[in-house]
Amino acid sequence: MSFDTVDLARLRGLSGGKWRRYGDDVLPAWVADMDFLQAQPLRDYVARAAATGDLGYPFKEGPEPLEQVFAERAMRRYGWRIEPERIELLIDVVQGLYLGFDMFCEPGQGGIIPTPIYPNFLSAAADTGRRAIQCPMVVQDGRFLIDFDAMAAAIDDGTRVLMFCNPHNPTGRVFERGELEALADIALRHDLVVIADEIFADVVYEGHEYIPFETLGPDIRARTITYHSATKTFNLGGTRVAVAVFGSEALRKRFKEVPGRLLGGHNCLGIPLSRIAWRDCDDWITGLVPYLQANRDFITEFLASRMPAVRYVPPEAAYFAWMDCSELDLPGGPYEYFLEHAQVALSNGPDFGKIGKHCVRLNYATPRALLEQILERLAGSIEK
Ligand SMILES: Cc1ncc(COP(=O)(O)O)c(C=O)c1O
Repeated sequence: MSFDTVDLARLRGLSGGKWRRYGDDVLPAWVADMDFLQAQPLRDYVARAAATGDLGYPFKEGPEPLEQVFAERAMRRYGWRIEPERIELLIDVVQGLYLGFDMFCEPGQGGIIPTPIYPNFLSAAADTGRRAIQCPMVVQDGRFLIDFDAMAAAIDDGTRVLMFCNPHNPTGRVFERGELEALADIALRHDLVVIADEIFADVVYEGHEYIPFETLGPDIRARTITYHSATKTFNLGGTRVAVAVFGSEALRKRFKEVPGRLLGGHNCLGIPLSRIAWRDCDDWITGLVPYLQANRDFITEFLASRMPAVRYVPPEAAYFAWMDCSELDLPGGPYEYFLEHAQVALSNGPDFGKIGKHCVRLNYATPRALLEQILERLAGSIEK
């Protein structure tokens, strides 16, 4: 099987939300599952577990703890030194976002967040009774940038955390060192805890480099919690494991005050699969990233020629096209319009913050032929 393989019968038979939520006439390009089969070692593990009935309670303390595997990988791939004792396992990254608000803000206090942003950042604030202070990014010279002056001005007495993700969902920006330093400067000046969601670190295109935020320096590390997970890179969304890297003992201690059982328990597949993914599946990434980059280029050309009214900045990472459809002025908004008239399910821009009002996000982690169909449907619906 290659990334190009289209097997609609397989996809329509999956039990997950991506292909089940909408009817069989709809092509789904929303939630961040990929339409590719996972790397062979991962599939072999699941087959072996099923064949041997290996579905009991997991043994987290077993050989090769995931913390160790992640730390070794961080050094190997990013030159990032992490003592494994600084790592704690979470069920998922979104849990970490909720914890960020819950641990460091009182009700009514909140966090500053560059927007648009992966919607669960905003839900995490809303659901915990905290404030999400949205700081809209700006497009300058064909790139999404954080408006650092606006960010500093929006911070008030109740702002306790700075939350961001890098590489960035949904714009696909990979922030450069200077930009990360500007964020660090704001965090230091305003005494903010930094919650850095770096889940897309492995899906970075040619010409761009992922820099772990906490590596900027000891001061910034001491106030940063970083989240990673194998689930986005290796298409393991349902297997539910993430790691939290604590930049100081004080931050870790705060986390340890949360009763462990409230954090939930891991399932028996997640930890072994993350271990295999992080230890043995670099080759898979080597194939995946150029494929996604070529999909990105395909979209760039398609939109320029067939949907020029859509404002779009080619992403530098991840697998989302963030499309501003303001100029199309589509009745009901672009999400509803494309679902009804193109039978394509995209993610709804307003969920990503106020700045996303006229936007949609397209997940292009799909075989080229399916991507082509998705784009043809979108274009056809506005050419009618
Ligand atoms: C930026 C970002 N963070 C977190 C997640 C979800 O991660 P998890 O399933 O570990 O909660 C996603 C999923 O798409 C994401 O895009």
